Amino acid sequence: MALNIILIGPPGAGKGTQAKLLEQAYQIVQISTGDMLRARMTKGDDFAAEIKKIIADGKYVPDEAMVKMIDERINEPDCKNGFILDGFPRTVAQAEALDKMLTAQSKALNAVIELKVDEEALVERIVGRFSCAKCGATYHSKFNPTKVEGVCDVCGGTEFTCRTDDNEETLRKRLETHNKQTAPILPYYASKGMLKQVDGMQDVAHVSVAIKSLLTV
Ligand code: AP5
Ligand code: MG
Ligand code: ZN
Repeated sequence: MALNIILIGPPGAGKGTQAKLLEQAYQIVQISTGDMLRARMTKGDDFAAEIKKIIADGKYVPDEAMVKMIDERINEPDCKNGFILDGFPRTVAQAEALDKMLTAQSKALNAVIELKVDEEALVERIVGRFSCAKCGATYHSKFNPTKVEGVCDVCGGTEFTCRTDDNEETLRKRLETHNKQTAPILPYYASKGMLKQVDGMQDVAHVSVAIKSLLTV
């Protein structure tokens, strides 16, 4: 049976980090809407310019565009074993649309996992984040450095980048948007009995163990 999971949490909570570990552990695919939007942003058309502005402002891309993106993505053959939604749904409208598309595609959710992290810890995580320019692997200067300084653990790449929205000012806006628009989807899933919470303040390995223990019960 497929394993379909949602990871929910504020910016810097560790969604991407944990999604990558789940990918390896269960042979399922990470679907990061942030990564998809950043890839789409490089196209240079009107929609790319719109996305760029929205992300820089710490706001959300309109629901309709996001729903279409996910509807197509989860229908792809590599999602057959399952997927980890990292960054979607982010609004109640997206959560409702997801329910409809899952039913239409004869799929179901196994778990909705909330990563709980204090706001001040998020600032430290975000300002220290960098990623490999070649393969996108994410690191943190203090909490999750590369094993060999300046060399990506995954692909051996030696060039690294930082996200343009990873500064304290934009992060505060991202947090505000999250609290206003994404926090309301937690009661939506809680009322369906699907919401599970994990203490995201633990180190990466312990958070991973906690998530896996929720998935095996
Ligand atoms: P997105 O890319 O999803 O950004 P986000 O939600 O702000 O989350 P992040 O990617 O910043 O954090 P993360 O939780 O993945 O943390 P990570 O594992 O990297 O979205 C970007 C933008 O796109 C949005 O603002 C919006 O504009 C738009 N968008 C995306 N989806 C959308 C949607 N559905 N609808 C509308 N708009 C949408 O970890 C962070 C750092 O901490 C890393 O350096 C990591 O190494 C470190 N770290 C991780 N875990 C730990 C730990 N346990 N202890 C210590 N350090 C840790
Ligand atoms: Mg991420
Ligand atoms: Zn790499």
